[in-house]
Amino acid sequence: MPKPLVAANWKMHKTLRETEEYLRRLLALVGAEPPVELAVCPPFTALARAAELLAGTPIALGAQNGHPQREGAFTGEVSMYQLADLGVKYVICGHSERRRLFGEADAFVAEKVRAAWAYGLVPILCVGETLEERRAGRAWEVVERQLSAALGDGLSGPLVIAYEPVWAIGTGVPAHPQDAQAMARRIRAWLLARYGPLGEEVRIQYGGSVKPENAREFLGLPEIQGALVGGASLDPESFWRIALSASAPSP
Ligand code: PGA
Repeated sequence: MPKPLVAANWKMHKTLRETEEYLRRLLALVGAEPPVELAVCPPFTALARAAELLAGTPIALGAQNGHPQREGAFTGEVSMYQLADLGVKYVICGHSERRRLFGEADAFVAEKVRAAWAYGLVPILCVGETLEERRAGRAWEVVERQLSAALGDGLSGPLVIAYEPVWAIGTGVPAHPQDAQAMARRIRAWLLARYGPLGEEVRIQYGGSVKPENAREFLGLPEIQGALVGGASLDPESFWRIALSASAPSP
């Protein structure tokens, strides 16, 4: 199993200058060999500059979205091919904000995952249920549908899965760690049943209101190999404290 991956999803935050300042501060904290893998996913406007600043450092560059077509008449879109050209390594696919606010359907998320692999990127596939679905006892049914749709054609490259219950994102109310653990275990069992030993290589992150104060509760769980962090990743010290808790010995 590779090292845990702790990834910062800045969403629609930070100017170019703020990006430079953040990355300088984060690089100073991280040093040459961090104990976990780190990735930062800035907005598209800052990707090229971030690529320059992160080249040759242990921090990987990620993007928050990408279009599956290589190029074409898709006004306002940025392709996976263009991201790969910049030196992007990870790309978030199927984040619940994309699904909910921009109408991304399972089939489109599947195209993105396939395209990410085709251009040598590592998809961070986001899955997760709404509060209504959880209350109705349908959490696994929903996550299983999202997994089957996105990965139905098999695993054609390295993969990260972020389990992000929709109601925990940006609310300050994370999932109960035992629920996150139970879901991660089901996801792992599903991967192993479908893809055999390849399924062992997939890292499963937890995402949704992860903060320095609660990160250890999730990152210390045996089934969780990292976190996708939104709000608390906007400050480099806070993000680094979260990353460190992925490598701390179990209490
Ligand atoms: P949050 O966002 O940490 O602000 O809850 C997580 C995410 O959307 O990936």
